[in-house]
Amino acid sequence: MSKKRLWITRRLSDATLERAERDYDTVVNHEDEPGSAADLIAASAEFDAIIPCHSEHLSADVVAQFSDRLKIVANHSVGVDHCDLPALKKRGIVVTNTPDVLSDATAELAMLLMLGAARHAVAGDRIVRSGAWDSWSPAFMVGKQVTGARLGIVGMGRVGKAFAAKARGFDMEIHYFNRSELPPDQAQGATYHDNIESLLGVADFLSLHCPATPETTNLMNADRFALLPKGAVVVNTARGALVDEAALLDAIKTGDVSAAGLDCFQTEPGGNPAFANHENIFMLPHIGSATRQTRDAMGFRALDNLDAYFAGKTPKDVL
Ligand code: DGY
Repeated sequence: MSKKRLWITRRLSDATLERAERDYDTVVNHEDEPGSAADLIAASAEFDAIIPCHSEHLSADVVAQFSDRLKIVANHSVGVDHCDLPALKKRGIVVTNTPDVLSDATAELAMLLMLGAARHAVAGDRIVRSGAWDSWSPAFMVGKQVTGARLGIVGMGRVGKAFAAKARGFDMEIHYFNRSELPPDQAQGATYHDNIESLLGVADFLSLHCPATPETTNLMNADRFALLPKGAVVVNTARGALVDEAALLDAIKTGDVSAAGLDCFQTEPGGNPAFANHENIFMLPHIGSATRQTRDAMGFRALDNLDAYFAGKTPKDVL
């Protein structure tokens, strides 16, 4: 039987590409530029399957122009806000994602951002690196301690739970808001809040771990930033759409939010240039899942989903 044709839109890990090329008639976008609408539409006529990343936008308009040849979109991401799921469903195209395998890597990055934001990582690095470090004082670069502080987690799914586990190692008091309360063996002593406002009131540190949906767009707006304890630290490793960036900037300027750690922005790539003047905003370019181990695991998970589909089974991560 001839191999199914697969288009891989970005340069995935070597191990992923090796396995894909062994099992599929694979074309890889080695230029590694995001696939455009035109690329996606053209690919739908030439390939049975696509492995895209969150950088490719499968909007309703693009999906409406897909050829009937394309059978499955096996995302190399857990987030699927770049896909219009109802439009894909309407076309009978199977969609999968890669949950679980990136939870630890993303939680590690959230920890880095939380600590870096709390302890002046940006300004401290700049001062030493530039040779401008010419004095020391007990009043110098005094930050906010995480040990014993209250951590508010919005979205206690896989990544939220992984982050809570790491934060327990810092003796943080964990609070969370989630659609439903977790059973005790999963909550591990974390305090449940059945509404976000109640959570925000206790969140000395706030970390966002929920998906971007129409309901969560601008979840953190001016009214909600105002509910945080004075000087709270805000961390976002989920999606830029969750944060009203103008409201965050205002809260940073007034000191209501003392620092932020951001891996995600409303505009990606690029970020928000207005944040650049504020060294208490510690920023990274959407690299939450970017470890070697996790990239292999994401690629393999996407291929596992394809293999299952073409073997006539239901893929594990079908949405
Ligand atoms: C994800 O998997 O959703 C990450 O943000 C990387 O795309």
